[in-house]
Amino acid sequence: MTKTAPSVAMTAGQAAIAHLRAALGAAAVLSGDDIPARNEQDWSTLGAVRPLAVVRPIDPQGVATALRIASEHKIAVVPQGGLTGLAGGATPVEGAIALSLERLVGIEEIDPATATMTVRAGTTLEAIQRAAEEAGFFCALDLGARGSCSIGGNISTNAGGNRVIRYGMTRDMVLGIEAALPDGTLLTSLNKMLKNNAGYDLKQLFIGSEGTLGVVTRAVLRLFPAPACTMAALCGLASYEAVLNLLASARKSLGPLLSAFEVMWPDYWTVATDRVPGVRKPISGAHAFYVLVEAQGSDDSDQTRFDAWLENLAETGLIENAVVARSLADVKAFWATRDAAAEFKQVLGPHSSFDIGLPTAKMDAYAKDCREALAVEIPGCLSFFYGHIADGNMHIIACAPGGNLQPFHAIDAIVYRLVKQHQGTISAEHGIGLKKKPFLHFSRSQEELALMRTLKRAIDPDGLLNPGKVL
Ligand code: LAC
Ligand code: ZN
Repeated sequence: MTKTAPSVAMTAGQAAIAHLRAALGAAAVLSGDDIPARNEQDWSTLGAVRPLAVVRPIDPQGVATALRIASEHKIAVVPQGGLTGLAGGATPVEGAIALSLERLVGIEEIDPATATMTVRAGTTLEAIQRAAEEAGFFCALDLGARGSCSIGGNISTNAGGNRVIRYGMTRDMVLGIEAALPDGTLLTSLNKMLKNNAGYDLKQLFIGSEGTLGVVTRAVLRLFPAPACTMAALCGLASYEAVLNLLASARKSLGPLLSAFEVMWPDYWTVATDRVPGVRKPISGAHAFYVLVEAQGSDDSDQTRFDAWLENLAETGLIENAVVARSLADVKAFWATRDAAAEFKQVLGPHSSFDIGLPTAKMDAYAKDCREALAVEIPGCLSFFYGHIADGNMHIIACAPGGNLQPFHAIDAIVYRLVKQHQGTISAEHGIGLKKKPFLHFSRSQEELALMRTLKRAIDPDGLLNPGKVL
């Protein structure tokens, strides 16, 4: 009988890491204690998970190679961008590789004639905004995490943000895409034309699918003319009906200039302006609703038009109180009341946050139902309402007593039960990730979910790309 030598066989994970190092270079593959803490979690508060390794290719072909090698070893892959996602789409999965786009950065081209920019996926949104500005253009995508989020993540989650009312969501700003498929195919489709009806529009598969169908490596973005002036007003109103009338009036009178319409309910307003450090109250008095209206113009006559519109409105009595920005500093101070949402964690401590969607007209009825249901079913639960109302997108922050021991699932169940009743969507802009997965069927039919699964199986038959996310 022959004696067997002690086992020196590598695990599938170790073999994959060795293979990745050989193909991409040692600097591109971090494992063990070299794994940076930042790659162990995103902003979803789901907690840290250490991936098998962090792989950081420096070019699109490297991303495709990483995926090919992972699929050969049947190792799962979680794509990571700026890690600012709130739904857990970039949270690592145990035993899976985290494929970080952080070294795939840079702007490859600005094409003035077509008004496009070709970018690499790991580039931060802020770097893109700055480069657009320097070239005399405007990048219309904007959101609070601009300094940290990456364009690949913005595309993969179809990020919304503050100016959707005028420019649309990320989907509307992407003309071309390059993405690596789970089998390592690099699909280069860097279209620059506004119109291209040659068969299926494959880029849409990768926009908003949260890295479950492919990993975005490069994109062609639409640029817009740089606005010459920004006008803003903060208005106090007495009823939701008045808010809807103000929106209708802004659409009619400001037309395409209207660039943001953000509504804040008083519960939100009080915390934002009384308790968040550094935020001042641009308007005095207590109102039932606070609305930030922004418009971008191309010359001084647009400022005159904006002022005249507001003056007329004040005379009709639609607005109880309003203040108009007289400088860019004022515009920033107005936005600070809205950006304060990101600081609620410092003020309230652990809480739940939501990005539900509902038809604009139903928002206040939903807010009333939701506030009451939360307070009755979870005694002491506070809730705060605000958001991009004109896009049919409301944010909610809910905080139950108990500090760290938040009844997250019970809060989710109440918020989403009412979303279902009001025929809304459980996610208007942040995506499903891991956090909203149990409730996806509230907003999508069995037939829709079945087709999503068919697509997933066709493109990722082994289920290796961002496993367990979305579906
Ligand atoms: C906002 C982000 C969190 O609107 O969606 O504040
Ligand atoms: Zn938002």
